[in-house]
Amino acid sequence: MPVPPLRLGVNVDHVATLRNARGGERPDPVRAALAAIAAGADGITAHLREDRRHIRDADMARLKAEISKPLNFEMAATEDMLRISLATRPHAVCLVPERREELTTEGGLDVVGQHNALAPFIARLNDAGIRVSLFIAADPRQIEMAAKLRAPVIEIHTGGWCDAVVDGHAAKAEAEWQRIVEGARLARNAGLEVHAGHGLDYKTAETIAALPEIAELNIGYFMMGEALFIGLPETVRQMRAAMDRGRRKIVGRP
Ligand code: PXP
Repeated sequence: MPVPPLRLGVNVDHVATLRNARGGERPDPVRAALAAIAAGADGITAHLREDRRHIRDADMARLKAEISKPLNFEMAATEDMLRISLATRPHAVCLVPERREELTTEGGLDVVGQHNALAPFIARLNDAGIRVSLFIAADPRQIEMAAKLRAPVIEIHTGGWCDAVVDGHAAKAEAEWQRIVEGARLARNAGLEVHAGHGLDYKTAETIAALPEIAELNIGYFMMGEALFIGLPETVRQMRAAMDRGRRKIVGRP
């Protein structure tokens, strides 16, 4: 199977988190998106949460209107979000689980448990020409169900692996990594496009870039933290360089 180029999607949620801390208009997540694209990002990701804690409806509309690269609209599978996404018409919708009390998206979507509810939802997005991605754990049952549900894309939740790497839990990190390697292969063989995201930094992005099945990484929190010290354009360039170093390791692999 040919190795796809690896795209970098930059998540701008936390520019909005900072803006909302003072309730004004600055810093502007759309400005961050434009700066990230100018520095080499291939797309922009934003999560419209039900409580609107960071990205707001108007941000999504402006992102869609003002950026020149694909917009990946992350959302929970609710009727309200479906209505907004159909009106916004982003390039892609990534369906994520959402609980109000969580700090971030903590686990993958349970597509096995919720397949009856998700099937019509995915069908409506497919019919509207919006590329559906399901944010799931690298679990064979979830991956097989994602393919059955006719979602063209999955995004593998890398949070558990990244946390274990950062915390120095070598055995857990290795076990999580093996699940990701096998999950990516299974998904690709099932005809799914495979993305990955959550908790990635330069090191873990470089490692996962060496998996030929992965076509896109979506990264936010680490990059916005780095941007405080070296600026967003330089952070995007360094992330791109890390991903390219990883990708070069697969040259010569089938
Ligand atoms: N992908 C998905 C589906 C997410 O929910 C998030 C977090 O908003 C990310 C990627 C980015 O994760 P992080 O901000 O930890 O890089």
